[in-house]
Amino acid sequence: MSTKNDVLGALMDAQEAISGERLARRLGLSRNTVWKAIEQLRAEGYVVEAVTNRGYRLVSAPDRIREIEILKWTTASGIGRRLEVHARLDSTNLRAKQLAAQGAPHGYLVCADSQSSGRGRYGRSFFSPEHSGVYITYVLRPTLPAERAVMITSMAAVAVARAIEKLCDADVKIKWVNDLYINDRKVCGILCEASLDFESGMLEYAVLGIGVNVAPMVFPEELRDIATSIGNECGASPSRSRLIAEISNELEKLYGELETGGFMAESRRRSNVIGRDVTVLRGDARFAAHVMDIDDQGRLVIRTESGVSRVGSGEISIKLR
Ligand code: BTN
Repeated sequence: MSTKNDVLGALMDAQEAISGERLARRLGLSRNTVWKAIEQLRAEGYVVEAVTNRGYRLVSAPDRIREIEILKWTTASGIGRRLEVHARLDSTNLRAKQLAAQGAPHGYLVCADSQSSGRGRYGRSFFSPEHSGVYITYVLRPTLPAERAVMITSMAAVAVARAIEKLCDADVKIKWVNDLYINDRKVCGILCEASLDFESGMLEYAVLGIGVNVAPMVFPEELRDIATSIGNECGASPSRSRLIAEISNELEKLYGELETGGFMAESRRRSNVIGRDVTVLRGDARFAAHVMDIDDQGRLVIRTESGVSRVGSGEISIKLR
């Protein structure tokens, strides 16, 4: 970790004013290096008060995504414990795929403050402006047959919903299979991409990408009626670093249920599609359907003119009516 992060960590630990001399001694640095680090933190928006005869006190921190702040709240031991934070990436999923192919361990986390080419499902883009959202991707190495890969998305949806509700007064719904909604608007999208071992039919690895709109945000015209952020809906928005940590913590709690689908009962309870009439999009075709249920394999059970059928997320997407 950098000197600046070390100084920040020491200021956070101290909770009250701490002299430059003590900081320097504790961190094995010169007083001049400590002072330079504090100036850098100030330039980034941290308010560090200089209290006469007592030293420095951290008054407030900007909502920046920082490894040290994420790890302060991370209780998970495997998922999200090893991580990297970038100011800007093309896409955290792309970066995670490169790392996974090079052998990155299970649970490794890639975070970015903004993305230039945030990716959504079906080749769509994901709006990822700076200082506003959580754009993260986990490298996962589950023992799972390819046809059950959708369970990773269902698990993640429950984990993120819990994490948001832990930090905000919100009722988070899941729009099958990869979107989270607050007050009928999308606040989070999930994109899980998997690499398959063709011989065994098992997943080699998966990259689990999660985008959450956090701060109060103004969306581009085309998204205004469908997208929202936690800040827009709840008045206040949580610390993004804390939210990342809580997502890791909830994912780790649910990960053991990946094979049994133990979280599907909660997924159904949170669903905003069960019992609704929807429009199903399959390739270029679209047709009306009634959603009856979501089964334990994460498939949608729908009734159409031709009867009852079960469909996986790879086959269709749906629009609420
Ligand atoms: C969707 O809404 O269709 C899924 C959106 C997934 C967006 C996240 S942001 C972090 C990760 N990196 C990406 O490029 N996409 C996912």
